[in-house]
Amino acid sequence: MDGSVSAPPEFDWRPLVADDAPALRRLVAECDRAPNAEGAYAYTLPSLERVLASDGESMAARDSLCAVDGHGRVAAAAWARVPPGVRHEYRGLLLGAVHPRNRCRGLGSFLLQWAERRARALLTALPDDRHKILRIEFPGSRDDAVPLYGRRGFSLHHTEIEMERDLRAPIPQAPLPRDLELVEWAPEWEQAFYETWADAFSDRPGRAAWTRGEWVAGFGGGSAFRPDLSWLALHRIQGDAAARVPGPLRTRTSVATAGYVLCDVRELRPTTVSPVRARSGEAVQRVGGIRQVGVRPAWRGRGVATALLCAAMRAFRAEGIERAMLEVNANNSAARRLYERLGFIAGSRFTVFTKPAPALGAPGS
Ligand SMILES: CC(C)(COP(=O)(O)OP(=O)(O)OC[C@H]1O[C@@H](n2cnc3c(N)ncnc32)[C@H](O)[C@@H]1OP(=O)(O)O)[C@@H](O)C(=O)NCCC(=O)NCCS
Repeated sequence: MDGSVSAPPEFDWRPLVADDAPALRRLVAECDRAPNAEGAYAYTLPSLERVLASDGESMAARDSLCAVDGHGRVAAAAWARVPPGVRHEYRGLLLGAVHPRNRCRGLGSFLLQWAERRARALLTALPDDRHKILRIEFPGSRDDAVPLYGRRGFSLHHTEIEMERDLRAPIPQAPLPRDLELVEWAPEWEQAFYETWADAFSDRPGRAAWTRGEWVAGFGGGSAFRPDLSWLALHRIQGDAAARVPGPLRTRTSVATAGYVLCDVRELRPTTVSPVRARSGEAVQRVGGIRQVGVRPAWRGRGVATALLCAAMRAFRAEGIERAMLEVNANNSAARRLYERLGFIAGSRFTVFTKPAPALGAPGS
């Protein structure tokens, strides 16, 4: 028994085609006019365009489905994708929208079930070299759809807050504690970065059990990544003390690590909602991204993260970048306090629901 639901029979069902694009844009706009939608549906448009164009790994004829009403209007649509940009896990993304006029008629339940099966099939076809997860993500709260996700076994994974900082505002002088020094990301330091991440995030709820390969692929890669702006704060230990560094703290015989920061430089289209406006006429804005910062529990409260973040902001500024961005988990009050103290301002909220993705045919699938 998988509690499966049937397609509401009063609609015609077919895959999406490229000519549906204007109707789908209207559908998404109508959904965003519903209360509390907060642009949640417009967020899916770039991915929808990729599916319609059967771009890259997507095939509209296989990965999308829509319901057409008696007037020939697209009443609801769903699609599934495994986005290629995620390098540390395989994410089966479920996306879709039901026109407000057609809510409470079983369309959402059926499309969610269909999208989950499709996403699962996409994941099953991929090698087993990474974690696999079914995922629904959207900005804002999307109160209209959340109960559906719960019924289908998805649970809230986290809510993220995007934060931004105007780098033209003064950046504090914040030196590292005296006994620490910075080294840039390099292959010979990957293991030390990874161990420092594992220890720094060990007390974060729900920390993923990434292998070194998964973590490095996810956070230390991609064309935007800046190894020269990603640093490990090192503590060089002299003489006999080096031998007493406990297990996970010891990354080299005479070196321990305190914390790290990973950065990238993204090229984003300027948005009108950003607290940091682009220069007028600028088509693309270079934005300094703080991908991740972490400080080992033993080194907290001594200004390590503050120093790493200020060094990153200064380096961005030296390249003429005026806007820095990061994402923080809404439940991470220590990190939010730190960022706010450094001048970051909270922007949009982003919600993620997930469900494990056992292989097709496995118990519970
Ligand atoms: C969030 C985190 C990075 C902060 O690292 P940290 O090095 O302890 O941060 P800082 O020392 O710079 O600042 C933390 C506090 O110490 C205080 N502090 C800063 N410099 C200090 C100094 N020289 N002496 C004493 N206290 C100091 C700060 O005022 C700050 O106080 P607050 O908690 O009221 O904001 C760390 O807790 C961590 O790694 N957490 C787990 C991973 C994580 O959540 N990362 C962020 C993901 S988005």
